[in-house]
Amino acid sequence: MSYRSTLPEWQHLQALAERARSRHLRDMWDSPSRVADFSRQAGPLFMDFSKQRLDSEDMTALLALARACALEQAVQALMSGAVVNNTENRPALHTALRAAADEQVRVDGVDVVPAVQASLARMESMVSRIHSRQWRGWSGKPIRDVVNIGVGGSDLGPFMACNALGEFAPAAAAELNLHFVSSIDGTQIADLLGSLKPETTLFIISSKSFTTVDTLSNAQTALQWMCDGNGEEGLIRRHHFIGVSASPQRMTSWGIPAANQVEFWEWVGGRFSLWSGIGLPIALKLGMAGFRQMLDGAQFMDRHFREAPLADNLPVLLGLIAVWNATFLDIRAHAVLPYDGRLKFFPAYLTQLEMESNGKSVSRAGLPLDYSTCPVLWGDVGPNAQHAFYQLLHQGTQAVSSDFIAPVRRYDDHLQGNGGLQLQHQLALANCLAQSRVLMLGDASVENGHEAPEFRRYRGNQPSTTLLLDQLDAYTLGALVALYEHKVFVMSVLWDINPFDQWGVELGKKIADSTLPALRTDNPEKFDGSTDALLQRIRAAGKEAS
Ligand code: F6P
Repeated sequence: MSYRSTLPEWQHLQALAERARSRHLRDMWDSPSRVADFSRQAGPLFMDFSKQRLDSEDMTALLALARACALEQAVQALMSGAVVNNTENRPALHTALRAAADEQVRVDGVDVVPAVQASLARMESMVSRIHSRQWRGWSGKPIRDVVNIGVGGSDLGPFMACNALGEFAPAAAAELNLHFVSSIDGTQIADLLGSLKPETTLFIISSKSFTTVDTLSNAQTALQWMCDGNGEEGLIRRHHFIGVSASPQRMTSWGIPAANQVEFWEWVGGRFSLWSGIGLPIALKLGMAGFRQMLDGAQFMDRHFREAPLADNLPVLLGLIAVWNATFLDIRAHAVLPYDGRLKFFPAYLTQLEMESNGKSVSRAGLPLDYSTCPVLWGDVGPNAQHAFYQLLHQGTQAVSSDFIAPVRRYDDHLQGNGGLQLQHQLALANCLAQSRVLMLGDASVENGHEAPEFRRYRGNQPSTTLLLDQLDAYTLGALVALYEHKVFVMSVLWDINPFDQWGVELGKKIADSTLPALRTDNPEKFDGSTDALLQRIRAAGKEAS
């Protein structure tokens, strides 16, 4: 097994990158067809990558590398249920979760689509009972508050989508309040429980493994709070707890009745799971029809990814550009900048999707890599970030690539008196375009900009892609999320890494388990100088307080 870096296509790109490093984006506009050459549309998404630091020769070379890495075959393998997650010996079939009901996707010879459809039907029945107020608490009152308890992939996706699409909630969902609890320290749940009534609150315990201590400790606190509210424990479990997991057995041991369990499968990665039962909060927010629109948008992107030629394929292009920036141009930071407040939590969602997937330094065969992989990714709502970290993007020493994301249409309905909001939307778009332009051109974006004193100069040459959405709705969000999922896969194929495991987070969990007893005893196990001293200080403070 040889390294990707020994491929002639890789080495050719290294030579091209040398040339690209000495070139400024403002000098790359000789060709009148640059915008046409470097933009593509797929369904509701338009992608302009003309502000990237590459020319046609670079793009041709990237596509050649993709072919040399057998990307097309890898995509087929992914979607047909091959064991692409080699360290955990299983497929990664999030695409099966949005497959059409009459499609067949086999795992170990068994078509999984009927099980997926059955799980959707169970979700649908739960959503319908909750929306129609037939799902009642132990004392007979209908549910008013639903709390999703989960962390990582069992929290970030539904939280992001519920925030993005809240305005599409059907009337039946209007009286239901949705809450999310994730953090292990108890802050969120303590604050929240003070404002809820046990009799009318329903908890969804979301955990693929059903072993995550963050989630189980919050769930235990919730159960205790419910029991303190005078109900009988059996009734409480039946009326106030739903479980979503790949382990029915662990849900049962925890006390979730079988009728309240939504199952998904080991072949769904946690950070790719919002399309499964993990998306139950989304279905509660949007109604099942809205959730299915999201699935349809993702299914559209799956088809595009599988069928469009590499040079017209949005996830392929987004992934190739990301590899070009991170590996060949050595740009180690990537910002995600939505110009729409509804997408506030989209960057946080992507931090897990991209960094937990591709933050790796060994190849699929276990060899240490000799090139850099996933950049540090972060972001925030663009207009707010302009008043926070854009200073570094414009005048810092660090090269940063960015994705600007904006809906073209918003507040269309003038009849509803949205004139002022239309103007605000246009202001947001104007800022989006202005910022990516200054990042590209620097001083050259204004007349005589280069004559300003040094502290007011803008270097520019910071590459970006602009993604325009026709509008933000469930279908488009589904397509957008799937676009990034597939981008991550493309990058992993070029880097020859497994994006579907996360061994890097396991050690921290294990060590936390052995550190807990040391907080609770006078004669703890010894760790290292710093940890021992900190433990001692914390224990001493605890004694003083008691
Ligand atoms: O700690 C990382 C992680 O393993 C993620 O991959 C996962 O999304 C999260 O924990 C939650 O895991 P679970 O859904 O099994 O509770």
